[in-house]
Amino acid sequence: MYETLADSRPAAAAPLTLRAMPAYHLTTFGCQMNEHDSERMKGMLESLGYQEADSRTEADLILFNTCSIREKADERFIAHLQEAKGVKRRSPETVIGVGGCWAQSVKDEVFQRFPYVDVAFGPGQVHKLAEFLNSDSLSAQGYFEFEGFTGELPAKRARDFQGWVQISVGCNMKCSYCIVPSTRGREVSRDPQSLVDEVTRLAEDGVSEVTLLGQNVNSYGRDLPKETRITFAELLARIDAIDGIERIRYTSPHPKDMREDVILAHAQLPSLCEHIHLPLQSGSSPILKAMRRTYTRERYMDRVAMIREHVPDCGLTTDIIVGFPGETEADFEQTLEVVEEVGYDQAFTFIYSPRRETDAAELPNQVPHEVGVARMERLVEAVQRRAHERAQRFVGRSLEVLIEGESRTDPGRLRGRSRHNKVVNFNGLGSAGERVMVDITGATSQTLTGEMSLVARATG
Ligand code: SAH
Ligand code: SF4
Ligand code: F3S
Repeated sequence: MYETLADSRPAAAAPLTLRAMPAYHLTTFGCQMNEHDSERMKGMLESLGYQEADSRTEADLILFNTCSIREKADERFIAHLQEAKGVKRRSPETVIGVGGCWAQSVKDEVFQRFPYVDVAFGPGQVHKLAEFLNSDSLSAQGYFEFEGFTGELPAKRARDFQGWVQISVGCNMKCSYCIVPSTRGREVSRDPQSLVDEVTRLAEDGVSEVTLLGQNVNSYGRDLPKETRITFAELLARIDAIDGIERIRYTSPHPKDMREDVILAHAQLPSLCEHIHLPLQSGSSPILKAMRRTYTRERYMDRVAMIREHVPDCGLTTDIIVGFPGETEADFEQTLEVVEEVGYDQAFTFIYSPRRETDAAELPNQVPHEVGVARMERLVEAVQRRAHERAQRFVGRSLEVLIEGESRTDPGRLRGRSRHNKVVNFNGLGSAGERVMVDITGATSQTLTGEMSLVARATG
């Protein structure tokens, strides 16, 4: 699809920083890494004197942080971009900027296909945004190379008490369905001391829960120089030792790198939460091989057994793809078997979506969409039934809940998360960022309900 907006594109983005308090509007698509990157974009823009606008029509700069993981993600973004095009038609001086994985995956084509886009950049050049915005030359844009960690930029955090921490960028895996290695590049780990310093600053700033981010967090450190190299488990221990950090989460680990030291850390480090997101993708070893996941069903189940042994109460969540090319009914049934056996607390389920420049898109035996949809329905039924059953273990217990705000469904109640990453809606008094004890009285597949315990606030 090629787009035009006749003669609307200026020779270059206007030098916005010269104006009084220019306003930006940023829309974020995709995963937590994009949430993180967007907080940094906002932090950087605000340090340059921009302020956040409530709507696109009020913005001098309309920004998008894009995702391309599945076709739907592309479609959603294009619909938003159309709207921005309408704004620009009415106010031609508006600057449109597109960052993130979609921009990276189409690179310079962005400007050909969408000539009203002024600035485009990949996930590795967020720190160059200011330079791009002020540049007179379009050739200053579109390097699309990794040039620096977004995590080193100032952040405007969505919540005062929670912080994302980018521990690595990129991915060295080559999962045959996945676009990420081509959008985020090779894996590069950040220096451990600079991560400890960053988390210390966050703690001083009132953050009590951090989520460590990377495409493959548990291969952290392997690329670091010998003098500073530490493992992911060691990094967890260093962060656990920081005063004020009460909860550590991370996403996503890869099952192939899920070693006993990391699992033991969940049992030993007081602030490391009892939750592991362990992406399965498929329960069939031949499909896992075609996906190039580098583990078999048996090896995955060994990891699950090890988790259950050391951290019996651990919340387990996963990602599953149905309808991967060549997936037979028998393969799919193996995925269902794993779901039954493990009993996940939650699973993110996806119908396979062919992605540009991935090997799986070229495979024969693409599964018809309606077969994918039918399998998805069966999968969701199994996931939810098992999650509902598993959630009953919490009923009658008192859980530590970090309050996030009001309940979404019932504003008279509070909403928070347990250490297992379960959403808890409860009656009680407290404000966002506080940790309280909640007596759990009910559980569905998605949420727990309860009453704030009269006994005590959470300590520790
Ligand atoms: N690095 C992480 C997450 C990658 S993207 C990891 O490896 O776990 C998040 C999820 O999107 C993946 O786990 C996978 O389940 C899903 N996904 C990725 N590419 C996909 C595709 N082409 N079609 C459908 N789902 C996909
Ligand atoms: Fe994609 Fe696989 Fe890397 Fe995850 S591990 S980002 S699924 S290539
Ligand atoms: Fe999407 Fe890129 Fe994240 S493709 S899922 S925004 S790493």
